[in-house]
Amino acid sequence: MPNIRSLNKMDFTKMIPDREAKIADASTSDALPNDAYIANRLAQALHPYAQYLKIKDIIERGEDAKTFVFEPDGKKTKELAYFNAGSYLSIVFSIGGAHLTRPYSLSSSPRDSLSGAYSITVKRAFGGLASNFMLDKWKKGDLVEASAPLGQFTYSPIRDQKVVVGLAGGSGITPFYSLAQAIADGDESCSLILLYGSKTLSEALFEKEFRALEERCPKFKLVNVLSNETREGCEHGFLNAEIIEKYAPKGEEYSLFICGPQAMYDFLEKETPKLGLRKKDIRHELFGEIHDPSKDPSYPSEKKNGHYRLKVHIDDETKTIPCSADESLLVSMEKAGISVPTHCRSGECGFCHSRLVSGNVYVPEKVDGRRMADKLYGYIHPCVSFPLSDIEIEVPHFKP
Ligand code: FES
Repeated sequence: MPNIRSLNKMDFTKMIPDREAKIADASTSDALPNDAYIANRLAQALHPYAQYLKIKDIIERGEDAKTFVFEPDGKKTKELAYFNAGSYLSIVFSIGGAHLTRPYSLSSSPRDSLSGAYSITVKRAFGGLASNFMLDKWKKGDLVEASAPLGQFTYSPIRDQKVVVGLAGGSGITPFYSLAQAIADGDESCSLILLYGSKTLSEALFEKEFRALEERCPKFKLVNVLSNETREGCEHGFLNAEIIEKYAPKGEEYSLFICGPQAMYDFLEKETPKLGLRKKDIRHELFGEIHDPSKDPSYPSEKKNGHYRLKVHIDDETKTIPCSADESLLVSMEKAGISVPTHCRSGECGFCHSRLVSGNVYVPEKVDGRRMADKLYGYIHPCVSFPLSDIEIEVPHFKP
């Protein structure tokens, strides 16, 4: 094995004939099947294309929220993929003839996945098509298709500070519940100071469970921040820079993790610069779907009410459907019954990556997760692309 210092250009040059000689000596018999290799089996176990789940239990959480506990269906999925706290599942739905997916953060401890359980916790949302469908229709024993655990909203000891200050709002608490359990289980090395914004204490999810975690783990602390009531032991008002500074460690660096509704992100955009943190120490969960791109200051306002035609090439078929300026191309395709590969729906994962053959789209800057090369060669993420003209796109239909 060459020493790292000896890896000069000559060493690399010598590697080429060595490698060619090995290829020439290699067996010409058929390659072994993929699952003959341990590395392939491990990759498949950690990153399956799809997981087939059964609803094992449903836990009511007040009037408007439920926790769904999944187990493997036992047929197509025998074991669940492990995950890091903060990951999400992209869940597949068929609602009213439309095929769509929605991302939901895992709220259970990563350790539970090893004994065959995942949980997600869903809160009713005004106009929330998938969330309300789950709350109203799902029952024990139902079968559910989901992706492998995905996402970047996870703690990394290499990138993040030893102390995480979490800012949560509404159902944005779910990845933090998973993280708090992982810390208490000894599976994450950071400590967590969690500031949880709710209107009232009765609306706050997992209150009892968080208090039990505080009891058993000195590395976790919860502070409720209530906007509509005053309670002893809770902060009153909104999650602002003053409250964050009050609880953040003094004289010690920390990472700020944020997960909540769009209104909370918008509010915190003005507050977090007051904290003087480096950009890398402020982490957001997915921004979520953009419902009105015209709110962006750089949106070309003369295009606001445009209606156009969208020509889609997918699966050797071509379909032409209507689309409008206030809807992402992805939503227009789903409404027309076109099944597009998606996971995050927020411009981050790249799974919906498609080629823009012709036309112009508007992509809000904060959710434009494309690489430079994608922009240069005309690729877009339809989940965050809004039409400014008639559009033609090629959508790859990915199946393993
Ligand atoms: S679904 Fe993730 S980038 Fe579009």
